[in-house]
Amino acid sequence: MKIGIGNDHVAVEMKQEIQAHLEAKGIEVVNFGTDSSQRCDYPVYGEAVANAVAAGEVDLGILICGTGVGISLAANKVAGIRACVCSDPYTAKLSREHNNTNILAFGARVIGIELAKMIVDEWLNASFQGGRHAERVAMIMDIERRQREK
Ligand code: RB5
Repeated sequence: MKIGIGNDHVAVEMKQEIQAHLEAKGIEVVNFGTDSSQRCDYPVYGEAVANAVAAGEVDLGILICGTGVGISLAANKVAGIRACVCSDPYTAKLSREHNNTNILAFGARVIGIELAKMIVDEWLNASFQGGRHAERVAMIMDIERRQREK
């Protein structure tokens, strides 16, 4: 399992802690985020991780900014990406099981590190259930295809 991780200046410490948490489990992490506290632009990192996920260079992505909103919005502009902000473990688990999310996002200004680790663990331990959910995810991806053809 290889995970791409990205963050802006607000989330450097949380990114580093999540990276260490994943590596302690033997998961390979590719860091696309900033490690500087210098103000920067979250879309850059959202796009970088999303491109890596879409290209299959990493299996899944994790994005962290102040709220998780801006960086996930940027990621969702890349074809094939289903990123969502999760501030609780239940939503994170269901986002994988029902929506087949391939990027998890959360906010360093919203949740603490222990909750963030729990959210990451629930998300990674869950798997897509397919069936009726696959049909709905296909409908979402069809919207993307139709938009591209406009
Ligand atoms: C940066 O100040 C902040 O806007 C960013 O981290 C994020 O919360 C945007 O959605």
